[in-house]
Amino acid sequence: MAWHRTRFAARFGLDVPIVQAPMAGGMVGPALVGAVSDAGGLGSLAFGMTAPDAIGAEVAKVLAATNRPFAANVFLHEPGVPTADQLARSAAFLAPIRAELGLPPQGSEAPGPSHRVADQVAAVLEAAPPVVSFAFGAPSADVMAACRRRGILTIATATTPEEARHLEALGVDAICAQGAEAGGHRGTFLHPFEAGMIGTLALVRACVDAVDVPVIAAGGIMDGRSIAAALLLGAEGVQLGTAFLLCPEATTAKPYRRALAAGGPTAVTRAISGRPARGIENRIIAEGRAVEADLPPYPVQNELTKAIRAAAAAQDQPAFLSLWAGQGVGLIRDGVKAGDLVARLAVETEAALLGALR
Ligand SMILES: Cc1cc2nc3c(=O)[nH]c(=O)nc-3n(C[C@H](O)[C@H](O)[C@H](O)COP(=O)(O)O)c2cc1C
Repeated sequence: MAWHRTRFAARFGLDVPIVQAPMAGGMVGPALVGAVSDAGGLGSLAFGMTAPDAIGAEVAKVLAATNRPFAANVFLHEPGVPTADQLARSAAFLAPIRAELGLPPQGSEAPGPSHRVADQVAAVLEAAPPVVSFAFGAPSADVMAACRRRGILTIATATTPEEARHLEALGVDAICAQGAEAGGHRGTFLHPFEAGMIGTLALVRACVDAVDVPVIAAGGIMDGRSIAAALLLGAEGVQLGTAFLLCPEATTAKPYRRALAAGGPTAVTRAISGRPARGIENRIIAEGRAVEADLPPYPVQNELTKAIRAAAAAQDQPAFLSLWAGQGVGLIRDGVKAGDLVARLAVETEAALLGALR
């Protein structure tokens, strides 16, 4: 059965049209990415939160480890500027959490972004990975031209059919349609985030109609049955994040691993980073609910919770961590090597498609 020979797989040189989602925040490194790409899928490095001068070496490690295609992912947001009220609200919200973790009270200064988006993008282009993927925005004409000059293929994330059309007009090679079930940050960039909370089933179908370039389905996909469903909707690839977080090659922290293995429920919150993101419900999400609508925007709130998340990780305490995960987390497999997971997903997809045809 030739289900895996989609336009996306052919254009990107993949044996199976399965993308390991980029996951910024220290869960994904060259070992995981190399294993997925060696298995015939597309591994993705995540540089949305990486210092520009660290990017080249990470890309070089994967280039040395595999001759298969892989992606490097960057964020394209405009850094938000907080009001004094938002900063005061954030300080009041986080003060008891800091105290509980034994951290000193936070200063009154608004922290600037750790890294400039333009510098991260420049470092990725310089490193020239086979594929670059973008989230939280649309690449400029200059960035698209630079990718073409270097022979870099591009993927960009859409959460509405309008965003998909916008990205297609810029010339991206594939569009990742991120449904509301997805773990991690919402990619919405043309609308308020609520307008981008469309379920994967409805979004993928609408995007396939809206654009001619291949659509990659993302959000809540954990096994071959869901991959088969996405393909039946017209997707030519799938992108899975949560499903890879418990692979031995992932660098997911211990308390995060325990929370993933225990499963959901998940919720979308702005309380941790200032940008809506889906994670396993914990105390920081629950306690942030009353104030999250008016906390500082991304990346300021993310900077303000950094010390809290570091202390929580050091204290093996999941209550105040970002436990990003999609709604399918209950189906996560623990301890399966990334290459084996790609192979199993392919076998399951074929079985599901054959079953559907019977
Ligand atoms: C822990 C985590 C971190 C993520 N970080 C990124 C990122 O850095 N860049 C990006 O484009 N998408 C990121 N995402 C979103 C994924 O690209 C994708 O949309 C999502 O994982 C799909 O849903 P699933 O987790 O249910 O498979 C992240 C997702 C998770 C779970």
